[in-house]
Order: sequence, then C-alpha cells, then structure tokens
Amino acid sequence: MKKIRIRVPATTANLGPGFDIFGASLSIYNELEISLSSDPKKAKFVIVGEGKKILPKNEKNILWKAMDAVFGLLDVSDKYTLSSFNIKLTNNIPLSSGLGSSSAARTAGIVAANAICGNKLTKSEMLDLGIKLEGHPDNIVPAFYGGVCISISGPEDKFEVVKLPIPKMQAVVCTPGFELATERSRNILPKKYDIKDITFNGARIALLTKAFCTNDFKLLEQAMQDKIHQPYRAKLIPVMQELISSAVKAGAYGACLSGSGPSMIAFCNSKKAKEISKVMAGVWKKETVPVKQFILDFDGDGVKII
Ligand code: HSE
Repeated sequence: MKKIRIRVPATTANLGPGFDIFGASLSIYNELEISLSSDPKKAKFVIVGEGKKILPKNEKNILWKAMDAVFGLLDVSDKYTLSSFNIKLTNNIPLSSGLGSSSAARTAGIVAANAICGNKLTKSEMLDLGIKLEGHPDNIVPAFYGGVCISISGPEDKFEVVKLPIPKMQAVVCTPGFELATERSRNILPKKYDIKDITFNGARIALLTKAFCTNDFKLLEQAMQDKIHQPYRAKLIPVMQELISSAVKAGAYGACLSGSGPSMIAFCNSKKAKEISKVMAGVWKKETVPVKQFILDFDGDGVKII
C-alpha cells in the first residue's frame, strides 16, 4: 500500500433554521497521510496543528474509531490494528468550535480505511456510517459532498442528499477562544416545541432554499432566523444576538451560530468581509474574549484523496 493523502473540509451546520438539515463545506482543510507501518513497534501517530497536545494518539482517537468501524463492516478487523499504520494528521479546523472538526476526522478515517480495503464501500454506505458515528447528518454530509447540502432522513436511518448551487459569496467566521462540546450544546435544547416555533422555522427553511437556488441573498437576513436552537444556545453565548445584528449592520446578508457553536458565521459579498470580521471580533473583544477570525469560501469538493 502506498501512502494515502486525504483532504477534508471544515463544515458549518444548521445555517440558522435548518437544524440537523442544512450544512455547507468551507475552505479550511485538515489533511491525513497514512501508510502501512513495516514494524508495528515503530508505528507513528503524529498530530500537527489544532489539538496536537490534547487529542489522543491511541485507540480512543475518533479518526481511528471511524477506521476501525469500516474494518469491522468489511470484516477485516483482525487484519488491522492502530499499530499497522503510520498516521500523520494535520489539523487546521479548530476543535469543538462549530466547524465540524469531529466530522472531518470521522470522514477522513472512513475514506482512508475504505481506500485501504480497496474501496469496497460506496459513498452512500460511507455516509451512512459517518452519520451513525456522528449522530446527526449536517456536518458529515457536506464533508463528503462539498457545497451546500440538505440532508433528508428516510426509513432505517438512511439519508438522501440534495445539493444546492455553490453560493457566490464568502463566509466570515468568528471563533471565540473557548470550546463548546456539541453534546453540551445539544443537551440544552428542549425536548418539545411550540408548533408556532416549528412553522416559524419551516417557513425560513423554504426561504433559505429559495435564496440559495436563486442567488437572492437579500433574503438571507430573514431566512437565517431560527427559534429551534439558537435562542436556547444563547445562554451559552450571551453575545449571540449582538454578533448577528452587528454583522448585518456591517453589510452581511445574514448571520447565525455555526453548528452548535461557539463560532458565529456571517455570509456576505467579498468586498464587505474584512469589515464584518472586524466588527464581529470587536463584540467579543468588549467581553475580553480572544477570537480567531476566518474569511472563507465555500468548498465545492468535499473530502478528496489527493
Ligand atoms: N445540527 C447539529 C447541532 C450540528 O446543531 O447540534 C452540530 O455541529
């Protein structure tokens, strides 16, 4: 087996009202290099970049767990252990920040293990496995497919994917200097909703689809409003509403929480991106919270063997 190199994008999920439905892939990439180790005692697991000091370099690593799940599905678990491989993971996606770092790791692991086994699983089988490991589809789907995706749940936990046109705009991401685990951010959500809140979101999901299909981004300010998850998560990110309104005031088409947060994302014409980024960072600076800022394009490819 030659060395395999895989590139996998960051993703933003929900896009406001599309909780567990909408997702898009963005131009920050993690890279995995993997080869068979000639001597299991000398096998290396190296992590460079985000999480290099804290991510486990053993069987607990989610990239390895995803690989192992593929080996299990293909009935070759006896043949491969972690020490069968030299692994180098270069992470550029911030961890637990609402930019799909765990999906990126799982996607890279699944694609790598499948390639090692001669690509026996189809894309949709890999996707089903990824969604099962992740628990929700809206980061995994764009990580596999690229672009803006709608995930439609069907019978037996199978998902259909609808891809929308790649929007001609940029994404400004503002990531505060604290992590927020998806589990915590999901546990804060109610178990039941008022039907008015559901129709509020349903109407905006329809509008969001129209905005992306027609490139009518003026619709986004209203189309990105949400009553299903952001109001509850605002308890964890108290400046959420101020970030959204300042981004829009500075010229963004619309803004929302990225996935389960804590990053916030605003969509805009490229000419406005720097100013919006500055204004959003300023909101966090007032709270003395440091931020990382990214001005990103939409990624059209999804995961790739390079
Ligand atoms: N739809 C998921 C959530 C995305 O909001 O919990 C997590 O990145």
